[in-house]
Amino acid sequence: MSSPAERRRILLDCDPGHDDAAAMVVAAHYGELVGVSTVGGNAPLADVTTNALLTAQIFGIDVEVHPGCDRPLVAEPLHAPEVHGVSGFAGPSLPDLERAPSTVGAIEYIIEAVRAEEGLWLVPTGPLTNIATVIRRAPDVAARVAGISFMGGSAEGGNRTATSEFNALVDPEAVKVVLDCGARILMSGLDLTRQFTVDDRLADDLAGIGTTGALVLSDLIRAYLDKAEERGLPRRGGLHDPCAVLAVTHPDTIERTLRPVDIELGGRLTRGMTVVDRRPMSRGGERTSPDRGEANVEHCHTLDHSRCRSLFLDAVATLSRAA
Ligand code: BDR
Ligand code: CA
Repeated sequence: MSSPAERRRILLDCDPGHDDAAAMVVAAHYGELVGVSTVGGNAPLADVTTNALLTAQIFGIDVEVHPGCDRPLVAEPLHAPEVHGVSGFAGPSLPDLERAPSTVGAIEYIIEAVRAEEGLWLVPTGPLTNIATVIRRAPDVAARVAGISFMGGSAEGGNRTATSEFNALVDPEAVKVVLDCGARILMSGLDLTRQFTVDDRLADDLAGIGTTGALVLSDLIRAYLDKAEERGLPRRGGLHDPCAVLAVTHPDTIERTLRPVDIELGGRLTRGMTVVDRRPMSRGGERTSPDRGEANVEHCHTLDHSRCRSLFLDAVATLSRAA
């Protein structure tokens, strides 16, 4: 585990979802989780806010949860009940909620937190609506953060459509605002996060830890795999969202390359598709082709699976045993 001196200070913006919950656990264990905000995505805002509060409660994470945008900047809301259940947290029997959301909304909270402290990491693991709204309202935020490490997009095809990853498809206009904002940006898209395997073996290993928190995560993952199977898919996928946290807390586990990344806003078949320009850069870093954009994103592309897996299981075990 990193020493306290190295712990990154993180604002997690999420839409739990089992993998957002996993991201919160990883952020709280290996980073300083300064605040959590929620955004409509996997499920409606009220549900994902409840799920974020439950995750914090079950794992004994002392953090405020700030509700954010309930719909994308331009598009109609889109949720993923077929993946995560109607509530976003299908599967486990969950305790009664003993915590309440903050009365300070996500946008106000994030702007204030970033203005009060330089060098925070923003880690969005849902649609980018909150972060884009923050940047539009307070453009100075981009220069004050250490970076924005987001889970979303893909360099190799989508999941919600043939070309587009779910978070990017829900709010492509928000992705565009973030990609163009000038902050340091790390992208963990499907081409990376599918390398972090979620399967029955991971659910078994979590169950083996035996704590309440680990059992809840195990049941959430089992329900996600059941839903995949019901749709005729393999009982196997990617544990997407913790990758965006690990890219910040354990940069040595995830290789990245600075590349031009943009998003398709208009295509009939390709709306929400992120375009990662993987053509080699010239030695001096200058453009090799007139159509090539500025290298604006650290494209995270290769992950040390066994290390990420054990970091995740250690975080769950340690945090949930202390809860
Ligand atoms: C992303 O979409 C959601 O279903 C997951 O929580 C993850 O953030 C993967 O496409
Ligand atoms: Ca998510």
